[in-house]
Order: sequence, then structure tokens, then C-alpha cells
Amino acid sequence: MRIGILGAGRIGGTIAARLSAAGHAVQLANSRGPETIRDLAAAAGATAAHVRAAVTGADVVITSVPFPQLPSLREDLAFAPGDAVIIDTSNYFPFKDGVIAGVGAGEVESTWVADQLGRPIIKAWNNILAGSFATKASAVGMPGRIALAVAGDDATGKAIAMDLVEATGFDAVDSGGIADSWRQQPGTPAYCTELDAAELRRALASADRSRLAERRDLMVTRMLGLGGEVSNDDLLRLSREVYL
Ligand SMILES: NC(=O)c1ccc[n+]([C@@H]2O[C@H](COP(=O)([O-])OP(=O)(O)OC[C@H]3O[C@@H](n4cnc5c(N)ncnc54)[C@H](OP(=O)(O)O)[C@@H]3O)[C@@H](O)[C@H]2O)c1
Repeated sequence: MRIGILGAGRIGGTIAARLSAAGHAVQLANSRGPETIRDLAAAAGATAAHVRAAVTGADVVITSVPFPQLPSLREDLAFAPGDAVIIDTSNYFPFKDGVIAGVGAGEVESTWVADQLGRPIIKAWNNILAGSFATKASAVGMPGRIALAVAGDDATGKAIAMDLVEATGFDAVDSGGIADSWRQQPGTPAYCTELDAAELRRALASADRSRLAERRDLMVTRMLGLGGEVSNDDLLRLSREVYL
């Protein structure tokens, strides 16, 4: 498939490398222009591109930019085919993203994102820490393979997204529609706790929306309390302590 990835950071860059290795034609874009990611894209087996070139003619567009930047992609996405599958990896954390009207008051993150982008989205790759995503991929059927949640309202688009998640080295679990995608947001047992498929299904079912913001913010308080450099292992341990 022709895949345009907007965001060449820790998540977008890893997705680019995995999907290129799986045989997809990947164009990778950031905000500063292709010349600034030429080496990164080449190492990933992808092609560096401007944002609008990356989405033009794409079968799939993956948005992986900081949450507050998402509204700025709306005009760019108008260059993507109308039937392109849009997959978003984002999470909202007020401590770094600021309080944003709508999501700041508890609107489901991906409902807000779809409204901002003006396109239906699939939510995927959001419930894994970047460090774990880069280092803990494994083959289909491996015991304990980490599972990632995939939410969306369009069955065809969700099936495509689930195949792509599998191609990046993780089991894909159907987590329902976008209205229910709060079940995989920060603050829930499904968020970055590195569960296998059966455990993830139970975690999604047990999520408590009324405690989501409180737990997300407690996790941040605990993380900031560590001071200094916080490792991926620290983040995983805190996520399990606070969310499970
Ligand atoms: N880090 C994690 O553990 C993690 C885990 C799961 C999901 N996520 C979510 O995934 C998304 C990406 O996270 P990340 O950690 O990969 O971020 P990151 O490392 O900070 O990278 C962000 C990327 O987005 C690009 N970008 C910013 N604005 C853009 C725009 N308007 N158009 C095109 N590209 C733009 C940046 O390019 P420039 O440098 O040129 O600005 C950069 O390449 C976020 O929404 C985050 O919440 C993160």
C-alpha cells in the first residue's frame, strides 16, 4: 500500500521503518521539510516528503504529531484521496499539551481529533510507550506478544489498520468504535501497560471513564516526582501501578 506518515518522531519514525520493511511504499513527512529527515527516512526504508506530497495518492495516512498540532493538518488532509484510511496515534496530556477546549472537559480524544481533521479516523498505536514500541515487537504467535488496541467506526478501515498494527510487530485487538475509544486513552488499564491480547480485552472492558482524568493526572504527578531522566522502564512500572 501507499502510506503517508505525518510526523517523523519516535512513533511515526518507528512505524515508517516497520511498514517499509513489510513491503509498503512509505512517505514520511515532518513540519520542517523533507531535507531535515532525509537520512532518517532513508534509514527507515522510506522516502522523505513534504506533508501534502505524502498524503497525495495515499491509501493510508497515519497522523503522528503532537496533539495540539493536529488541527493544523486539516488543510493538508484535503490533498488525500477521499477514501484514504486516516489512522491517528495521538494522546492528550494537559500537562504538556495545555488545556484544550473539548478534550480538556472530557470529550473523547479521537472524537475531537476527527472533528479537527474533518475526516473519520481509526485510533491505533496510541497505547504503547515509544521505547517499548521500538524494542518489543515480536512475531505472530510468540507467547506474551504485546497487543495494541484499534478503534474505529469503519469496518474496512479498521481491518486495514489492524493488519498494519500486526505488521509492526504487535497483536491488534478490536476495541470498538470511536465513541468508545476512551477505553484506550491515558488513565485506563489498557494504556501503556503492555498486555497480551486476552489481557487487553479484559482491560478495555473494565475501564472506568469517571476515573480516567484523575488516573492520567496521578500518573503524571508520579512521573514528575521521579525527577531527572525518566526511563521507559520507569514509565512502564508507573503505568502498571497507577492504571491496573
Ligand atoms: N512518545 C510516546 O510514548 C507515544 C506513545 C504513543 C502515542 N504517542 C502519540 O503519538 C504522537 C507522536 O508522538 P511522538 O512521541 O512520536 O512525537 P515526537 O517524537 O515529538 O515527534 C513529533 C513529530 O511530529 C512532527 N510534526 C509536528 N507538527 C507537524 C505538522 N504540522 N506536520 C507534520 N509533522 C509535524 C514533528 O516534526 P518537526 O520536528 O519537524 O516539528 C515530529 O517529527 C503524539 O500525538 C503522541 O501523543 C506517543
